[in-house]
Amino acid sequence: MSGASMLLLRSSFFDRLSSISFSGSSAASPFTARRSFSLATRAVMVTCKAIRIHEVGGPEVLKYEDIEVSEPSEGEVRVKNMAIGLNFIDVYFRKGVYKAELPFIPGSEAAGVVTAVGPGVTDRKIGDRVAYAGKPMGSYTEEQILPAVSVVPIPPSVDFATAASIMLKGMTAQFLLRRCFKVQPGHTILVHAAAGGVGSLLCQWGRALGATVIGTVSTEEKAAQAIQDGCHHTILYKSEDFVQRVKEITDGKGVQVVYDSVGKDTFQVI
Ligand SMILES: NC(=O)c1ccc[n+]([C@@H]2O[C@H](COP(=O)([O-])OP(=O)(O)OC[C@H]3O[C@@H](n4cnc5c(N)ncnc54)[C@H](OP(=O)(O)O)[C@@H]3O)[C@@H](O)[C@H]2O)c1
Repeated sequence: MSGASMLLLRSSFFDRLSSISFSGSSAASPFTARRSFSLATRAVMVTCKAIRIHEVGGPEVLKYEDIEVSEPSEGEVRVKNMAIGLNFIDVYFRKGVYKAELPFIPGSEAAGVVTAVGPGVTDRKIGDRVAYAGKPMGSYTEEQILPAVSVVPIPPSVDFATAASIMLKGMTAQFLLRRCFKVQPGHTILVHAAAGGVGSLLCQWGRALGATVIGTVSTEEKAAQAIQDGCHHTILYKSEDFVQRVKEITDGKGVQVVYDSVGKDTFQVI
């Protein structure tokens, strides 16, 4: 799953996030969260850093700020994030294409260590290595509150960066390859945006299933990445007619399935 874990480094957000996300399985934390005790609520509040969005727009709306995280309530855990996964959906929320109440903390997947457990939680304990994906949004933060049922344990062999980068994209790839269309040995599949986060997993997994994988990419550098991830054939869609190239590669037979991460621009020509 090397391609997916590298998403942390490939993303245009990385510069903004480098101070709160890091790779590796070290148990040592770079975070400097401070704990304070509220006399009014008698709750222990954790002050930590997060990326918050107060208005939708370009990358400049990502603000690095102090936030306060409360004790977990019934059925919740508090998790110190050690690595945060980045996804295209984060851009949709940041731009306002998908709506969220302002201000909000973006991010839909992360991996970290449980730092507090709320009442009624019996299957998670402080110190557990866990990961989550999907809701609630808000993973661009040092610590966050999550429903205990949303976090899954990370096997010891999987480091935090890998876990954080394959939860959402991995479930997406699983759904696409095993349920939406069941890829079988001998199939030929076409993966648009083959070097993207989801695309890199589709290429690796599709090849492992015995399929011939054709990937479209925008640059030579991404073509090399896609080959490393398992693509048998790459097409530079900016300079090549990918429909024609697919016909050539498949002797005119075409493919069993097309995975299209791009949409409008690629859909119309098929
Ligand atoms: N991440 C998930 O779990 C998930 C779940 C459901 C749906 N999706 C959807 O799947 C698509 C890919 O998501 P991802 O998280 O894998 O994204 P990603 O890692 O950012 O990859 C997106 C890829 O799309 C290509 N692309 C084409 N037009 C683009 C444009 N105008 N701006 C940016 N990239 C463009 C780029 O490859 P080239 O440069 O080679 O064209 C890029 O590598 C998105 O539409 C996303 O909404 C993702």
